Amino acid sequence: MKTLLYKRILLGVSGGIAAYKSADLVRRLRDRGAEVQVVMTRGGGGFVTPLTFQALSGRPVFTELLDHDAEAGMGHIALARWADLIVVAPATANVIARLAHGMADDLLSTLCLAADVPLLLAPAMNQQMWRAVATADNIATLVNRGVEILGPAQGEQACGETGPGRMLEPTDIVQMIENRFRTSLLSGTRILVTAGPTREAIDPVRFISNHSSGRMGFAVATAAMEAGAEVILVSGPVNLEPPDRVRYIPVETAEQMQAQVFNELEHIDIFISAAAVADYRCVKVAANKIKKSGKSISLELEKNPDILAMVSAYRKKPFTVGFAAETEAVHENALIKLKDKRLDMIAANQVGQGLGFNTEDNALEVLWPGGSASLGRLSKDKLARKLIHLVADRFHEKNSNQAH
Ligand code: PMT
Repeated sequence: MKTLLYKRILLGVSGGIAAYKSADLVRRLRDRGAEVQVVMTRGGGGFVTPLTFQALSGRPVFTELLDHDAEAGMGHIALARWADLIVVAPATANVIARLAHGMADDLLSTLCLAADVPLLLAPAMNQQMWRAVATADNIATLVNRGVEILGPAQGEQACGETGPGRMLEPTDIVQMIENRFRTSLLSGTRILVTAGPTREAIDPVRFISNHSSGRMGFAVATAAMEAGAEVILVSGPVNLEPPDRVRYIPVETAEQMQAQVFNELEHIDIFISAAAVADYRCVKVAANKIKKSGKSISLELEKNPDILAMVSAYRKKPFTVGFAAETEAVHENALIKLKDKRLDMIAANQVGQGLGFNTEDNALEVLWPGGSASLGRLSKDKLARKLIHLVADRFHEKNSNQAH
């Protein structure tokens, strides 16, 4: 199952014999759909070559902090921003001590310090080193800061001793990574998300559409699923794999999208409209390919249904979240849409000139009656998770107000 689809995982490999297990970890993470970027310490490279990890991850492996080529490509700060999660496996006693003391004297420790994402450590060391007071103190410091310690397991060790300090098996680490992306913020709710563009036919070979790739909507659907919701994703034509554990309904036109949304609406608690629905369609779709004859042609267009406005006006209105794609006056235009369509929330983004549409990153300004939040430039996955947090807060607040 692609339970980690589109997740960006930075795997730190430090110098322990368990580094050989990390090669299998990369394969398993990629099987689940994750993108994996390996960063090795010098010690790690002594056990397994970077080439092995490069072949398994499909990406060059980074090892040096001051590497001119790497800095010219994805510098260490960009790498820290790229990751959704960092896992260090194996994490030696030395790496654990350096992280506990905030050192930044190699690439891996610098990344861990510069990143604002969950940090998971899978310790691997001799049983006595694990039991040492210094290691216990370092672990306690890291746990206090929110670092998650995976294991270690008990058993026979490479050095011939027996006790705690074996790195967990890759299958266990993968499961803990999967759990890390899950919350129960929206357990028991049913959420319908729309995504992608719609296509409005002109003739059998041409259509009117837009640059939406579907990434934003797919990320929102995934984040809602991870937050425990039952999710239906209605999407126009995109080149993305549907997320696991989400009911996927592909459509082509605005009218088809509207029909599918209204098929499900009766049982929906939250509606999130991330689709870039074409506002107009052709009054008449030509039965045959239109010939190149005159100097110009005219197409008569008519308005498509405004799905978001219709959902918001529905007698059993779900908590309704719109998006606003604006090229100018983003805040003002989003506020107008929030009020005119009587939405519970709107997520506004600047689009055009490489922003919003068909990009990996985005920035959102989220508005709701009486409040707002700016979600700065982040990957669409991270933004979607932050947006789902805001939606969950407002949804539960609205429900508890209505109950009183
Ligand atoms: O798909 P990506 O490449 O990742 O790009 C993401 C995105 C830019 C498409 C996304 O972040 C976004 O902004 N989606 C909304 C695009 C849009 O149509 O915005 P709008 O301001 O034109 O429409 C306002 C709202 O009304 C939107 O929630 C839209 O889904 C909805 N709408 C619009 C027209 C229509 N006929 N029916 C609708 O439901």
